[in-house]
Amino acid sequence: MEISIIGSGHVGLVTGACFAELGNGVVCVDNDEKKIEILRKGEIPFYEPGLEEIVRANVGEGRLRFASSIPEGIKNARVVFICVGTPALSSGKPDLSAVEKVSKAIGESLTEYKVIVEKSTVPVKTGEKVEGILRRTVRNGVEFDVASNPEFLREGSAVKDFLKPDRIIIGVSSRRASSVLVELYEPLCAPILITDIKSAELIKHASNAFLAMKISFINAVANLCDLAGADIKKVAKGVGLDKRIGESFFEAGVGYGGSCFPKDVSAFLHIANEMGYNFTLLKEVEKINHYQRERVIKDLEEFLGELEGRTIGILGLAFKPFTDDVRESPAIDIVKMLQDKGAKVKAHDPAAMNTFSDLYPEIGYVSDPYEVAQGADALLILTSWPQYHYLNLKKIKKLLAFPLIIDGRNILDATKAVNAGLYYSSIGRGKLKP
Ligand code: UGA
Repeated sequence: MEISIIGSGHVGLVTGACFAELGNGVVCVDNDEKKIEILRKGEIPFYEPGLEEIVRANVGEGRLRFASSIPEGIKNARVVFICVGTPALSSGKPDLSAVEKVSKAIGESLTEYKVIVEKSTVPVKTGEKVEGILRRTVRNGVEFDVASNPEFLREGSAVKDFLKPDRIIIGVSSRRASSVLVELYEPLCAPILITDIKSAELIKHASNAFLAMKISFINAVANLCDLAGADIKKVAKGVGLDKRIGESFFEAGVGYGGSCFPKDVSAFLHIANEMGYNFTLLKEVEKINHYQRERVIKDLEEFLGELEGRTIGILGLAFKPFTDDVRESPAIDIVKMLQDKGAKVKAHDPAAMNTFSDLYPEIGYVSDPYEVAQGADALLILTSWPQYHYLNLKKIKKLLAFPLIIDGRNILDATKAVNAGLYYSSIGRGKLKP
């Protein structure tokens, strides 16, 4: 099938490349000409494991092409996916201006029936808006359908998530649109749920909000474990083994970040409010998430006292491993709080030092985790990169000026840390002395 993707960011490019991999003819469109140039050379403007290989292969096979204009990009497409950004405004409300602009341009260029699919994360009832814009702009007699097909791609495993999804949600208002989209997705052999458009839109926000809630819930329990002297890893395991609850997205730590959960929780709250429902549960989810960052500073102060003049080493700047993305990363707030308290910061991240240095050019960036420990008064682990799981803790102890590790992702073996002569504090497994 010929398809077109408007917006060649993380979601758009992964979607386009994967559909090409399944044998479809795909044109990815973006108004950023520089990005299109990079993509045409087979390069990827961001870090996503496995993506470069399938982009190169499919560009080589002629199934994946790029365009910088919507009329040219959608000419032959039967399905057009809208994958542009919907960033949060300062009020928490999502900014839909890109979706609206793109919908207008699609409407003006339509010459024959196409299914226009919202894949960008949008508030419920955006489908109605998109349909209204298309109706106002499309030429007389040209037919179209609007559909909602939310994505559930995690950064760092987006290609795998696309090709092996738990489910595919197709929100439609006509059989014609549903049969086109089912035909497109059938090769994935995944469960397909057909709904109305509004339900599909709500499924996306409810899914992300639920996962964020699960994380905040286990973080709150972790804080309780610290007070009670229990072990959050055992508690999470014991609770998660109940199939009704499940073990995934149940890891306590410094909280969720990224371009999705923080934005989507606040958007969902905002939408609920606009519709007259005060979704207080989500306010607590946000509060707990913020507290997880604050508690790292409190824990540090408990060991070190005043942080003024102290040097704090940070391992992990990305909002999660296998990405260079630092958007809403816990490290951003934690560095800010440390600087406000007069501490000096040095840091390491295997992929995100460049992106982080756009925000904090002044902190010390080093190319080796042990260099971070050298002379520091404490080491904070904020991202669970695999290389931090097996640090030589005896070496770290020798390098640190004060032998303290605050493990914000619970990745180290507490007994090994203590046996190496370290003070070890984590999230929900107590504060241990050597
Ligand atoms: C998330 C969802 O998982 C995807 O399904 C969704 O499609 C995507 O948002 C989106 O809306 O586009 P992503 O933001 O890439 O994906 O990352 P996640 O793997 O979900 O992690 C989000 C944050 O939660 C990270 O900061 C991670 O460290 C944190 N997290 C995750 C925890 O603190 N504990 C956990 O148990 C799991």
